[in-house]
Amino acid sequence: MNESITFQYKISGDDFTRAGEASSDVKNKLKMMGVDNNVIRKTAIAMYEGEINMVIHADGGDITVDISDDEIKIVLADQGPGIKDVVKAMQAGFSTAPEEVRALGFGAGMGLPNMKKYSDEMQIETELGVGTTVTMLIHM
Ligand SMILES: Nc1ncnc2c1ncn2[C@@H]1O[C@H](COP(=O)(O)OP(=O)(O)O)[C@@H](O)[C@H]1O
Ligand SMILES: [Mg+2]
Repeated sequence: MNESITFQYKISGDDFTRAGEASSDVKNKLKMMGVDNNVIRKTAIAMYEGEINMVIHADGGDITVDISDDEIKIVLADQGPGIKDVVKAMQAGFSTAPEEVRALGFGAGMGLPNMKKYSDEMQIETELGVGTTVTMLIHM
């Protein structure tokens, strides 16, 4: 039997006081479900970075988390500006975050590299002026 459970979150843009709430909610749910600690850690880090990116770079978006027996699937969909050069954006330290965002401690340019590192599979679909969808899989 392979049941799955889905959680959905609406992320608002530029609200740094609430940034990270969705990923910490998922972390708590996975704990209650008795999921392996390493899987929880990978999921929480990867999702947190994607959530923050939506807040900083895309004026918010929607996150869907699907948990099944064998994997966790995180889909981050936004209608932001899109990513001009994905290869460049994936490089450690690359960031277009403005100064006022850096002053809050964000914008180190490690989000996408860490999403890649902590997920088992990651796919980025992006179109300038249309938006970005990042899909990550974490195996149980
Ligand atoms: N959802 C997104 N929409 C538009 N641009 C994005 C998005 N996510 C990432 N980016 C772009 O990729 C760059 C690198 O992202 P990341 O590695 O998370 O670094 P940081 O968020 O610290 O800038 C960002 O500075 C931004 O230009
Ligand atoms: Mg980031």
